[in-house]
Amino acid sequence: MMSSVFIAGTGRYLPSQVVTNKDLAKYVDTSDEWIVQRTGIHERRFSTGEPNWYMGVQAAKQAIENAGVAPEEIDIIISSCITPDYFYPTVACSIQDELGAVNAFCWNLGAACSGFVYALDVARGYLATGSAKTILIVCAENMSKSLDFDDRSTCVLFGDGAGAAVVKKGEGLYGSRMASDGKTGAALLAPALLGVNTPFAYDKDNPKYNKYAPTKGNYMTMDGRAVYRFTAHAIPNTVSGACERAGIAVDELDWLIPHQANLRIIEKASERMHFPMEKIYVNIDRFANTSCASVPICLSEMNDQGKLKRGMKIALAGFGGGLTSGAVVIEW
Ligand code: UT7
Repeated sequence: MMSSVFIAGTGRYLPSQVVTNKDLAKYVDTSDEWIVQRTGIHERRFSTGEPNWYMGVQAAKQAIENAGVAPEEIDIIISSCITPDYFYPTVACSIQDELGAVNAFCWNLGAACSGFVYALDVARGYLATGSAKTILIVCAENMSKSLDFDDRSTCVLFGDGAGAAVVKKGEGLYGSRMASDGKTGAALLAPALLGVNTPFAYDKDNPKYNKYAPTKGNYMTMDGRAVYRFTAHAIPNTVSGACERAGIAVDELDWLIPHQANLRIIEKASERMHFPMEKIYVNIDRFANTSCASVPICLSEMNDQGKLKRGMKIALAGFGGGLTSGAVVIEW
């Protein structure tokens, strides 16, 4: 029997503030019609000030309660976050402190919107070797703080939220397929610390150090069409690759839970894979793109609604900045 991951508990946190497309149209030149037609998004949640660690803690508390584990039982906390409050301590360490997960070691994984899926694959490795028994994965994103509200091509697409899962070693199916394409990295860009700026950095303007074209402050920029082209293959390739490694056909899946970036991308994947939309979970209409939090938020909603039954075969798929993509197939 293959060594897999068992999702023992899920949780989520979404800020209470609902921002509709019409609300955004008061600030940028856009319309409800354009956003709904091009993306399937009707509204999103924006933080009213809740930082990442706070959102992550709320989702994590729900997940550990749902899993029935004590904070002290957690061996590792992996956070995934591209909009952190601090570079260090990482969100994972702040969450450890708030939970009292005193026996965990904690770190942050950087794979942008693919973060949850990558974290699950890493967790599986620790669980398979026996070096950890209980792992908490927390994805928390304040996308709103990295949005330029003068850029209508990005600011309408994202939302804030957190999702979490407690994972243990499972004995069912497992297959994963990850892929990265650094050559297209500039298509989704957010600068970190703004350059070396000491009296000793006399060569800082040397053009050879410009990996990417300068952007406006710390805001994210996106070449939407380039990312869209990438995603056309990303979901089908990684999901079929993960299914192949798990030893099942794609049509044996009970559910596909994709990253929620654009309803059109999800529909295209459904068409390409001949996989029915009824078996694909979608909540982008309510929450927009919450980066790596989107997949665990979906899982948590589905779990609460009783949509997931033990033994069901599910695929989780992520794609985004890097560019990165990945899918994991497990049994619920
Ligand atoms: O998790 C990260 C992964 N990110 C993604 O997966 C995003 C992938 N990309 C996409 O989802 C789509 O490319 C977008 C939704 C971002 C854009 O949709 P599109 O159909 O590719 O639109 P476009 O960029 O080709 O723009 C079409 C038109 C342009 O006007 P012109 O040049 O045709 O006059 C844009 O200026 O739509 C205009 N436009 C808007 N109009 C109203 C762009 N944004 C907006 C807006 N409201 N918010």
